[in-house]
Amino acid sequence: MTGNDNNSRPHRPIRSFVRRAGRLTASQQRALDELWPEFGLNFSPKPLDFARLFGREAPVVLEIGFGNGDSLVAQAAASPQTNFLGVEVHDPGIGHCMIKAHDAGISNLRLIAHDAIEVLEEQIPEASLQRINLYFPDPWPKKRHHKRRIVQASFLDLCERLLAPGGAVHIATDWANYAEHIDEVFAADAREASPALTAVMTPEGHDADHVRRVALERFDMSLGTGLGDLKGRLFRIGHLGDFNDLSLVGSLAGVEMALDLAGVPHERGGVEAAMHRLRQSTGGGT
Ligand SMILES: C[S@@+](CC[C@H](N)C(=O)[O-])C[C@H]1O[C@@H](n2cnc3c(N)ncnc32)[C@H](O)[C@@H]1O
Repeated sequence: MTGNDNNSRPHRPIRSFVRRAGRLTASQQRALDELWPEFGLNFSPKPLDFARLFGREAPVVLEIGFGNGDSLVAQAAASPQTNFLGVEVHDPGIGHCMIKAHDAGISNLRLIAHDAIEVLEEQIPEASLQRINLYFPDPWPKKRHHKRRIVQASFLDLCERLLAPGGAVHIATDWANYAEHIDEVFAADAREASPALTAVMTPEGHDADHVRRVALERFDMSLGTGLGDLKGRLFRIGHLGDFNDLSLVGSLAGVEMALDLAGVPHERGGVEAAMHRLRQSTGGGT
């Protein structure tokens, strides 16, 4: 069976999920029985040895709450030089994911069926992850449930501890209120807050959310939503974490490409302007 075995702790913390008695299809059940030895890893509260787990040294990307695993399997197939670790608590999704991974002949993927927070706290070695992906976390829209949202100050602490130098957290959500919540959590953290914020206003008749979707789908790049009244017209490029000059210029180029692909007219030269400014601020001339 999968590793969902550790729920009898005396003081259960607030969880970001409620375990649903998911209906397993016959093929998902078969996958859990037969493919778990190939992809699965039972939870155990001690740090993993990634080189042993994957049989090689390679950067590790961890995805939290991968759902049915479609995007996780696609990423693992597209980046065979990277090791992927998926963490999910929903058995039908885990079964689905293993079927897809097996059919695709993927060998750079391992799964843990357990609360991702406990996995991060107990199983992931410090400074060991190249990226933490959190795609469309459960939104918990009611105010009284916001404490269940997985993005909290303590979550940021964990990410800080577990990311390798140059590592990053990718978060995507399609809930405006959750996007604002994420911004607030990051902004409240002195290590993550940044006085620099770039906002792009789309012209009348062009939808900012469409640009955000294009950027996410094409470049795996998550742009923030606009605030309040400006939602739908404005998106933001947050400069968070160890966003360095190079990744900033790269992101601006990605935004320009996304605007092109989304058919939004815009002036050229944002990347040039950013490089000009960087040259000035680093004393590198004009
Ligand atoms: C809204 S779904 C999104 C699934 C997938 N990422 C997608 O984009 O389709 C959120 C998923 O996160 C999982 N999840 C929520 N909290 C989790 C936790 N603490 N540990 C592991 N999985 C979690 C849920 O079981 C659910 O499958």
